[in-house]
Amino acid sequence: MKISVIGLGYLGVTHAVAMATLGHEVIGIEPDQNKVTSLQNGTVPFYEPGLTDALAKAIAAGNISFQQQHDDKSASANIHFITVGTPQSDANQAADTSFVFAAATELAAILKPDSLVVGKSTVPVGTAANLIQTMESISGFTPAVCWNPEFLREGTALADSLKPDRIVIGSNEKPMNQPLIDCYEEILSQGVPLLEMDLATAELVKVSANAFLATKISFINAMAEIAEASGADTVMLAEAIGLDNRIGKSFLRTGIGFGGGCLPKDIRGFIARANEMGVGSSLSFLTEVDQINLRRRQRVVDLASQELGALKGKTIAMLGISFKPDSDDLRDSPALEIALKLHSSGATVKVHDPISLEALTDKHPDLTTASSAIDTCSDADLVILGTEWRQYKELAPETLFPKTKTIIDGRNVLDVETWQAAGWKVIALGRNIQNG
Ligand code: UDX
Repeated sequence: MKISVIGLGYLGVTHAVAMATLGHEVIGIEPDQNKVTSLQNGTVPFYEPGLTDALAKAIAAGNISFQQQHDDKSASANIHFITVGTPQSDANQAADTSFVFAAATELAAILKPDSLVVGKSTVPVGTAANLIQTMESISGFTPAVCWNPEFLREGTALADSLKPDRIVIGSNEKPMNQPLIDCYEEILSQGVPLLEMDLATAELVKVSANAFLATKISFINAMAEIAEASGADTVMLAEAIGLDNRIGKSFLRTGIGFGGGCLPKDIRGFIARANEMGVGSSLSFLTEVDQINLRRRQRVVDLASQELGALKGKTIAMLGISFKPDSDDLRDSPALEIALKLHSSGATVKVHDPISLEALTDKHPDLTTASSAIDTCSDADLVILGTEWRQYKELAPETLFPKTKTIIDGRNVLDVETWQAAGWKVIALGRNIQNG
């Protein structure tokens, strides 16, 4: 099939490469010339395991290309996927859909009546209906529009695209979905469930899934606050409640909480949309989910102050700065916010991260970086584990030589006994750890 993918951010690049991997003929469209040039040369403009290799294969096979604007070739695509971002608006924290409408407006001007438009961006419920009206006023016919949310996670984005837990398609009429079902034939033939529904429900599936995941994490982090006040241990608590199949173990890892380009902005956008629709109280709990999450960041700063007294003049080593491992994404990263808070309190923060240091130095040149975990920790008054990269989980504590052997495990991933046996004091969120 001939496909255009409009908007080459995280979602767009991954989707374009995934579709090319399935054998479709893909044209990626992105106004940013630098991104286009970089992708044409086989360079993915962000870190995502496996994506560069898959892009190289697609380029070699001749079934992917990139350009800044639509042309006759892209106009003849069977399916146009809209994958532009919906960032958080500064004013009211709502999702900013202006890029979606801009992409749809440009598309409507060249759209053929037999092409299908598929929205993949995360949008407030009701967006697709408005989009159809906007496009119709330009194209002069009612465009066929489906909404097909994406559930990919950074770090496993390509695998999540090629073998998702489910495919959700929303539209006004089921027969409209057929080209998209054909496009995903190879994925569906692996037994991936297909759910067909109306547009509004499909839009809601994405934001409510992210709201649920965020709620699960904040639930266990709320329990961490209770555990810290009562001497209980949330790691054991999570294991015990997670064994109940109705609750499940995943997304109950206590620590410094969620970040990234999706969960924080999506819950805020969802709250804003509910308010607009006059049902804000239905989602008022999500405001608390957000607050619990942000409080965990401050908790680490408070623990650092408890350990060190005045932070001014102290050196703190930060292991990991991206919002999660296997990603260089610093958007709303809990580790980054903690590092910045410590820095603004007068501490020297020395950061190591396997992938994100270049991005960090560009945005925050005031934070000091180090070339290895060992280097970061040398002479530190305190070490903080901010991102659970595998190499930190596997660190041998006896190879580190800080001034003071104290570590705050912000992700609850270290083997406490091993670190204590090497002479370290281990502090972790929501845990009752006895240090000798
Ligand atoms: C998320 C959704 O999982 C994905 O389905 C959607 O398409 C995009 O948003 P992602 O942003 O890649 O994906 O991150 P995710 O793996 O969900 O983790 C989000 C954050 O929660 C990370 O900062 C992670 O460290 C944190 N987290 C996750 C916890 O603090 N505890 C947990 O138990 C799980």
